Amino acid sequence: MLHGKRILLIVSGGIAAYKSLELVRRLRERGASVRCVLTRGGAQFVTPLSLSALSEDKVYTDLFSLTDEAEMGHIQLSRDADLLLVVPASADILAKMAHGQADDLATTALLATDKDVMVAPAMNVRMWTHAATQANLATLRERGVHFVGPTEGDMACGEFGPGRMAEPNDIADAVSDFFEDSAPLSGRRALVTSGPTHEAIDPVRYIANRSSGKQGHAIAAALARRGAHTTLVAGPTNQPDPAGVNMIRVESAREMLAACEKALPADVAVCAAAVADWRVTTEATEKMKKSGTGVPTLEMTENPDILATLSAAANTRPALVIGFAAETENVVEYAQAKRSKKGCDWILANDVSPGTDTFGGTDNTIHLVSADGIEDWPRMSKTDVAERLADRITEQLGAGE
Ligand code: PMT
Repeated sequence: MLHGKRILLIVSGGIAAYKSLELVRRLRERGASVRCVLTRGGAQFVTPLSLSALSEDKVYTDLFSLTDEAEMGHIQLSRDADLLLVVPASADILAKMAHGQADDLATTALLATDKDVMVAPAMNVRMWTHAATQANLATLRERGVHFVGPTEGDMACGEFGPGRMAEPNDIADAVSDFFEDSAPLSGRRALVTSGPTHEAIDPVRYIANRSSGKQGHAIAAALARRGAHTTLVAGPTNQPDPAGVNMIRVESAREMLAACEKALPADVAVCAAAVADWRVTTEATEKMKKSGTGVPTLEMTENPDILATLSAAANTRPALVIGFAAETENVVEYAQAKRSKKGCDWILANDVSPGTDTFGGTDNTIHLVSADGIEDWPRMSKTDVAERLADRITEQLGAGE
């Protein structure tokens, strides 16, 4: 449910802090990765060691630790998260959030973020009902902070009433609901191809290319993060499987086509794989031997075109079919021709000339060619290309509702 989601868990001071340990387990069971920030108050109730053991990550405690700042600046902490979760949220930290105070790592990360924030308040009933707290809560609600709990019940201080922190399972449910509601591609199906294909010549030799799979894998990850049920059909690569995708590994172009057709129907297909255009007509069943009479001649046959096949699929054509165009000259012009020849809706043209490092590298420069014209994107990381493309896909599929 929470595969690929990154949660920054801020544990503030309060007796309910001990429940944050169970919460880490509940969130991780659901597939989330959890990174913890422990306030000075929180550290009176739980230790960094126990949080670190359960989250299997370093725990961040001090804004002015030079090592922490060098390894992971406080701004980076919130930037790397999909959700900031404050558990327990004491009256003190809620007041600081409402007033924009940033005097430790937790409050600085909360002020420096543009990500969603969810809080699970926990405090004495009188503190909860106090006009100052209620005013702070109103401010935070108005700013879009999400609340889970508190509930009503017996409190550690011996009183009864609202202020008891929600149970870890209920907090984990609220986090799951949050991602489900905010996942713009929830209920959509995406199909992505990635990596090279290997076309066998004989049992030990094959024809391949330099595609690493970085671009295609990043696109699948970005679509899955937006809630799409994503199938990634990948040729041989060393890339790790992106979280939360349905992974299908293939070798050849024909296997890739068969896997793609099996994955239909889909709302969107993105063909980022560098599929071999040709294969040898007859694959040798035994290793080819040097004969001494000269070099062998390989007779080639054209491979099926996956992008063109998906674009032309009679009943199962995805609403949005997107291809890439890898060109070394006349990049946009050739991409336009490819778009109309293959019948896809958008084509992302990228220059793969020597020196560009597009094949195998970490960055890419894209020209998005569609019926509406050409959009030139600045050079950016392949991850950022994937995010931008996923946002465009989200807008487009939304517009088609
Ligand atoms: O994997 P990386 O190292 O991260 O590099 C990324 C990339 C350069 C491989 C990627 O950005 C890219 O350009 N992918 C398409 C590579 C390619 O084969 O381009 P093409 O112009 O030859 O093909 C045009 C389109 O047809 C592509 O969408 C391709 O997936 C598709 N195609 C091509 C041949 C074929 N038989 N079937 C296809 O579906």
